[in-house]
Amino acid sequence: MGVLRDLLLGRPDGRRARLRRKLGLGGGQACTKAEAPPAPPPAAAGWGREPAAAEPALGLSPEAPKDVTPPEGFEVVLHKDALPAGQVVEIIIGGTAIAVANVEGTFHAVTNTCPHAGGPLGEGTLDGHDLTCPYHGWTFDVGTGACKTNPDVVLRRYDVVVERDAVCVRL
Ligand code: FES
Repeated sequence: MGVLRDLLLGRPDGRRARLRRKLGLGGGQACTKAEAPPAPPPAAAGWGREPAAAEPALGLSPEAPKDVTPPEGFEVVLHKDALPAGQVVEIIIGGTAIAVANVEGTFHAVTNTCPHAGGPLGEGTLDGHDLTCPYHGWTFDVGTGACKTNPDVVLRRYDVVVERDAVCVRL
C-alpha cells in the first residue's frame, strides 16, 4: 500500500509533496475535501443560465405584448410583427393547437389538425388564403374554412382581433 501511495502521491519528502505544501494543498495526504478542485468561476453572461422568461415562445419574435388586455374571451397569441405576411404558424394555447395565418396583414386562426388525417396545418404552406396541409396536400381557405379538396369538409375557424400589436384569438 505504501508503494502504491508513493506512486500516486509521490514520496513524503519528494518533489510533489513539497509542491503540494507550497501550494497549501497538504503534505502528501490522501485526497481530501480540501484538495477538491475549486468551484468553477461564475458563469459568463448567458452561459448555462435558464432561458429568460422574456424570451419569445416558439421562437416567434417579437414576443407577444404582455401589457395588452385582450377583449373578453380572447387570448393574446403573438405579436403582429412576429408572423410575416404569407406565413402560417402553429401555436398551442390553453392546450389547443391552432394554426395562425397572416394573409396580407389580416390574421386568421383555424384548427391546427387537418380533418383528413391529422396533419399539422400550422406547418403547411400559405398561398393567399389557401392553406395546404403538409401531409397529403388538402387545401383550405383560411378565411372561410372551406376545403377545396373535399367540399364536404369545413375547417374549424376561430375569431381573431388585433389589439394594438397583439394578435388575439378566441378559442
Ligand atoms: S392529413 Fe392533411 S391532407 Fe392528409
